[in-house]
Amino acid sequence: MTEVESQPVQGVVFLPPEQGLRGTVRVPGDKSVSHRAVLLGAVNDGPVEIHGFLHSADTLATVGAVRALGVEVDEHDSGLTVHGRGWSGLREPEDVIDVANSGTLIRLLPGLVASCDFYVVLTGDRSIRRRPMARLLEPLAAMGATVAGRAQNSLPPVSVRGGRLQGMEHRLLVASAQVKSCLLLAGLRAHGETTVAEPGGSRDHTERLVRFGGGHIERDGPVDGAGVVHVFPVERLSLPPIQVPGDLSSAAFFIVGALLVSDSDIRVENVGLNPTRTGLLRVLERMGGDIEVEETDADGCEPVGRIRVRTSQLRATDVDATEVPAMIDELPLFLLAAARARGTSRVRGAAELRVKESDRLGAMAGMLASFGIDVVQHSDGLEVTGVPGGWGDGTVHTVGDHRLAMVGAIAGLASREGVTVDDVGCVAVSYPGFVDTLRGLGGRAEVRP
Ligand code: S3P
Repeated sequence: MTEVESQPVQGVVFLPPEQGLRGTVRVPGDKSVSHRAVLLGAVNDGPVEIHGFLHSADTLATVGAVRALGVEVDEHDSGLTVHGRGWSGLREPEDVIDVANSGTLIRLLPGLVASCDFYVVLTGDRSIRRRPMARLLEPLAAMGATVAGRAQNSLPPVSVRGGRLQGMEHRLLVASAQVKSCLLLAGLRAHGETTVAEPGGSRDHTERLVRFGGGHIERDGPVDGAGVVHVFPVERLSLPPIQVPGDLSSAAFFIVGALLVSDSDIRVENVGLNPTRTGLLRVLERMGGDIEVEETDADGCEPVGRIRVRTSQLRATDVDATEVPAMIDELPLFLLAAARARGTSRVRGAAELRVKESDRLGAMAGMLASFGIDVVQHSDGLEVTGVPGGWGDGTVHTVGDHRLAMVGAIAGLASREGVTVDDVGCVAVSYPGFVDTLRGLGGRAEVRP
């Protein structure tokens, strides 16, 4: 963590750069892929090398969790080695597993251990303890695990006692890669086939990694629409070394920053371009964003490439429910871009945003309104009428949500007089070093006296 990021009690003011954002960045490893590489590495048949692993609070919670299950993990300069023990080598943790702020960990781990004959209890921070869990505990119970949770089995803390699992057909009511992945991980050790039908194309990193390790998963349906995923049991996984690409969700802050700050021209190298994650790029291009994307490597587990972005005048657009899953974590940034676009932009079908690290729809409505932008709130979306001239100044309350802190920083760079972010420390959840990288591109961040 950088000096500025370790000042959680003081506000940090983000100010417009002197001469636009300029330069080339490489962002840290993808958070979703890093979590999955460690979890699948833990049940691999032998050690797995993970290069480009994201060292952040969330992903280190996953390392802690697999260690608690008896798996050795070595940390080295280029990443990690996870000494996989197969499912039969996992042991019962002695204590409650604390996932900290990680929604991915509290959703995926129950699926990983659902076939193990031992007892696991999971909890996390305040934000985690309001994340809906029935959507995965119910299907795990139907497969044969014994599960429980607070508030009638709907909220953390939750517990899982693994059992003999039977494959089943499950229909997700909301497109959620976390819930889908949980059931796919359980399906790897169930008797017979497990199918998960999803109403939209959520990120498919679990499917790719399982196949990379020799497992059998298929999907019917387009990547950007409803589909059915079929998973078949595996005896063992044999994962080759895993290369984690740069996280497009982290790069997205600089991409939107470069579009909004005048005289900007930036390049992002070695970034993941999985089509289930690139929804924001498609929407920003539709808004008139000057964005060039070049795929440089499609041979690994995940496609990787580079992106060039230059300042652009944006026009409003509508984002509908089918587009939401591929940009779920970038919707706050889309809303910020919409606040500078000509016309009224709308997003609908995004009720899931209310149960992320914070209520991100409510938080973005409040943030934009405080900048003087016209916002209409719906239960599942927002309407934002952009002001191409932008805003003067403002203050952002992050409520401990890392992505809101970084959106606030970009809002400051795009402002005339600066935006104060009350807690920058929470960026360590997904992107330690964010402020230094922003400064390297020309962004200004000053600790409030
Ligand atoms: C994630 C999936 C998304 C995303 C989260 C990470 C994952 O959640 O918001 O930050 O790694 O599977 P849902 O797909 O469950 O909405």
